[in-house]
Parts: sequence; C-alpha cells; structure tokens
Amino acid sequence: MPPGPLVVLVGPMGSGKSTVGALLAALLGAPYRDTDADIVAAQGREISDIFVEDGEECFRALERDAVRTALAEHEGVLALGGGAILDADTRALLDGLPVVYLSMGVEEAVRRVGLNTARPLLAVNPRRQWRELMDARRPLYTEVARVVVTTDDRTPEEVASAVLDALELKKDV
Ligand code: S3P
Repeated sequence: MPPGPLVVLVGPMGSGKSTVGALLAALLGAPYRDTDADIVAAQGREISDIFVEDGEECFRALERDAVRTALAEHEGVLALGGGAILDADTRALLDGLPVVYLSMGVEEAVRRVGLNTARPLLAVNPRRQWRELMDARRPLYTEVARVVVTTDDRTPEEVASAVLDALELKKDV
C-alpha cells in the first residue's frame, strides 16, 4: 500500500486549490495532481462540455472514480474538484487523510469566480447560487477536513504557508 497523499485540498471553485496545490507541491518537493485535470485528460473534453452533453450526474460518477483512483495512487499534493465531497463514498475515503479545506467568503468568491462561464454551476446569478451552494456544502467540507485554512485577503503563497503550518509539514528546501 502506498503511504497516500501528503495533502488533499478541498473547497469551492475559486478557492485556489490548483494554484495553492502547485505551490505546495513545489515547497514539499512532491508531485501535484488534480482530479479535474484527470477527468479532462481521460475524457478528452472540458468539464463544462461534460456537464452540457451528459449532465451533472454523469460528471459526478466520473469524478467519484477519478478521486478513488487518485487517492489510491498519489503520494503528493492532490486537489479535488469543488463538488467531489458531495459523494458519500468519497467522504468516507477521505476519513483520516490530511485534508485541508480552503475556505472563502462570498465577496471574495464573486470577485474571483464572478461570471466565469467555464464554471457551469455559477453561470447565472453567481451571488445567490454561491450562497445556496455553500449552505449545502459547508458542512461537508468541514466534515472531511482535518484543518480549515481561510483564503480571504491572502496571496496563494500565504495560503500555502498556512497549510504547511496547519498540517505541521516541513518545506523540502
Ligand atoms: C465543481 C467545481 C469544479 C469542477 C466542476 C464542478 C463544483 O472544480 O469540478 O465544474 O461542483 O464545485 P474546481 O473546484 O476545481 O473549480
């Protein structure tokens, strides 16, 4: 059995999982992996196209498999798509792992994600959709997380440093 991931990042879209994840990987001298990218590579199409062509349920099934595979294989920093924690099997797999919830307030979210149509879940009325999304998801992010790191008004470098401190991990430099 491989030792498992060093860090698993969860949190809503725009919370900086990919940027912070890549920084963390560099600081730890470990590989970075992203389950959204795994799905895009395996499917040969963008996530927004999967949503439009096959629907969210199909995407979630692909995501569940991608997360299971990545958790079993990956020994570095792993970022999960924002909705991955909606799946109960995925939440069970995360139990006991070094999971970090990158949290973000609504104002920061609207600033960062706004009307970006590549984020299909926020395409219409982003502020209201954000609140509804987070009301449903906040308890799940909190449930799976070992630590919560806030990202509001912080640079990706500051967030990465806070993650290392929170998990008591040492830089490999
Ligand atoms: C989603 C977040 C996206 C992507 C998909 C659905 C969500 O990932 O998986 O658009 O449900 O929050 P990011 O969080 O990496 O943007």
